[in-house]
Amino acid sequence: MERRQFLKSSAMAGAVLAFSGQRVWAKSADSHIEIFVDEPEATIAREIYGHFTEHIGGVIYDGVWVGENSKIPNVHGIRKELIERMNQIKVPVLRWPGGCFADSYDWKDGIGPEAKRPRRTNFWEVDPDADRLHEKGEQIFEPNSFGTDEFMRFCKLTNAEPYLAANLRSLPALDFDHWMEYCNSPAGSTTLADMRKANGSAEPYKVKYWGVGNESWGCGGNFAPEEYASEFRRYTNWIPKYGVELSLIGAGPNSNDRDWTHKFFEEIFTSAHPYRNPEFDGWSVHHYASNLSRGKITNNFHEAHGQALNFDATDWYELMRETARVEQIMNDQWAVMGQFDSRHHVKLVVDEYGPWYHEGTEVDPTHLFGQQITVRDALATAMSLDIFNRHADKVSVATCAQLVNNLNALFLCHEDKFFATPNFYVFEMYAAHQGAQSLRIEFAAPDIHYQRDGKDASFWGMNGSASRKGNTVTLTMINPSLTGPSETQIALRGTSATRATGTVLASSDMHAHNTFEQPNFVKSAALPVTASGDTLTVTIPPASVNKLEITLG
Ligand code: AHR
Repeated sequence: MERRQFLKSSAMAGAVLAFSGQRVWAKSADSHIEIFVDEPEATIAREIYGHFTEHIGGVIYDGVWVGENSKIPNVHGIRKELIERMNQIKVPVLRWPGGCFADSYDWKDGIGPEAKRPRRTNFWEVDPDADRLHEKGEQIFEPNSFGTDEFMRFCKLTNAEPYLAANLRSLPALDFDHWMEYCNSPAGSTTLADMRKANGSAEPYKVKYWGVGNESWGCGGNFAPEEYASEFRRYTNWIPKYGVELSLIGAGPNSNDRDWTHKFFEEIFTSAHPYRNPEFDGWSVHHYASNLSRGKITNNFHEAHGQALNFDATDWYELMRETARVEQIMNDQWAVMGQFDSRHHVKLVVDEYGPWYHEGTEVDPTHLFGQQITVRDALATAMSLDIFNRHADKVSVATCAQLVNNLNALFLCHEDKFFATPNFYVFEMYAAHQGAQSLRIEFAAPDIHYQRDGKDASFWGMNGSASRKGNTVTLTMINPSLTGPSETQIALRGTSATRATGTVLASSDMHAHNTFEQPNFVKSAALPVTASGDTLTVTIPPASVNKLEITLG
C-alpha cells in the first residue's frame, strides 16, 4: 500500500471508531478492534466446522479409503493418518457421498460383502477433466468398496456426525425411506436392520442430517424450483423417524439465485397445501470462489477459473473479493427465506465452499478437481469461517469442499505419502470457536488499494470474528494485505484480560504451500501479544491468519 493511500484510509478508520464509543486509541496503531464481551449474539454451531467427502477423483479412493489389506497404515481400511489429523481439529460433521455424485448413487450398491458389490460408472465420468482418466479404474468405474457402513465407520473413528446426501434425481422416494430404515431402524426391528447387523452394526447409526438432493437446479435433476418443491414434499413427508431428531436439508440456489429460493419457499410455505414439516430446517448454499477473471467472464464457470499456484497480487485480492461474496449471498438468501419463514426455523447450510482453480496442480493425475493449497487459500478459508461465526444466528451447518485431494483440501495424499495443507492449520486454530457464543466485534483498518486491469480497486484491510466460552475469548482475524504488517490494538469492552496467547499462519511468499518433499513448509506458529488491562497489542503480519486466546480477568 502506498503511504498516501494509507494515511487517507487511516483517517477513515478513525471516523468509524468515533461512532463506536469514547475510547481513546494510541495514535501509533494501524488497526483497531473492539470486542463487546458482554454482547453475545448467538451460539456458533459446532457443525459450522464440518467437511465434505464425495466419490470424485482421489477423495474417497486414495484419500479416505485405502482398503483393509493395504500396506498404508489404516484402521479397518480407512487411512490412519487422516483419522489422527481429523481428530486434532474436532470434526463435528461429515457430508457424503456427494455433491453431484449423490444424485446418481444407489446406496444399495455399497452394502454387503465387498466382492459382491457392483461396479458402476462414476458420475464424474461426464466431466471434461475426466477425459485424461479413461481406463483409470475407481476414479471412473466406481467399485463401491466404500459404502454406507464404511462411511459410518469413518464418522465413528473421527467422532463426526454423518450427513447423508440422498439421491432425488435417479432413485424413487421409497429408496430414501429405505436408506433411512437401513441407517436408523432399531436393532432387530426390520429386514434392513437385520441386514445392517449382518454388515457389522446391530445398533442403528441414528443419522440426523439428510440432504434431499444436491444442486437440484443442475446436476441434481435440472428442476424448476416449483418442480423441486413438489419432489421435496414427496420425498420428505411421512418419512420414518425411528426416534431420531431429523434435520432435512433442501437443495438451495445456484449461486445467489433468489428466484429459486423465493419460488421454493413460496410453494412450500404458502401454497394451497402448506407443508409443515419441522424436520425441514436447513437450506443449502454453495459458494465457490472461482471467478478470477476480474469480472470479464461471468457465464463460463470453468473458463473464469484462476490458477492455484501461478498467480499475482491482483489474483490474490480477487480471490479475497470472491470469497467475501458469500456474506452477501447469505444475507440475500436469508432475507428471501424470511419472507415466508418469518421465524427463521430454516437455517443456512453452507455445505460446499472454497476456492476452485484450473486443473494442473493435483498431486496425482487421477485426482479430479485436486489442487494445491497455498497460504492464499488458508486466508480464504479463515475468511469464510469468520463470516459463518459472525452470522451464527443464520448458519447451522457448513462443510468445506472437500476434505482431501480435492478443491479446498485440508490434506493431500497419494498412496503412502500424505501431508496437511495450510487449511488444516486454519481449522486447528478456529476449533476454539466451536459451540462458543459469538460476540459483537468492530474492526477499523485502512483499506487495501490495488490495480484491477488498470483500474483502482480496494478491499478491506482486516476482518474476523470473536467468541466467548466461559472465561476465554477467542479472536480470529485475517490481514489480507500483501505489503505490510498491521500494528493492532484490541479493546475488550466491559472487562479486562489477565493473559493472552497468539497463533499465526503466515508466509512472506504468497504462493507458499506444502508438498510431499516439504510437508511442513507452511504451518502455524506462536504470535507474540501484549495484554494490559482491557487493551491488547499485537503486530499482525501481512498475508496472515491469526488467533488470540484471551483469558478474562
Ligand atoms: O465439489 C464439487 C462439485 O461442485 C459438487 O459435486 C457439486 O455439488 C458442485 O457443483
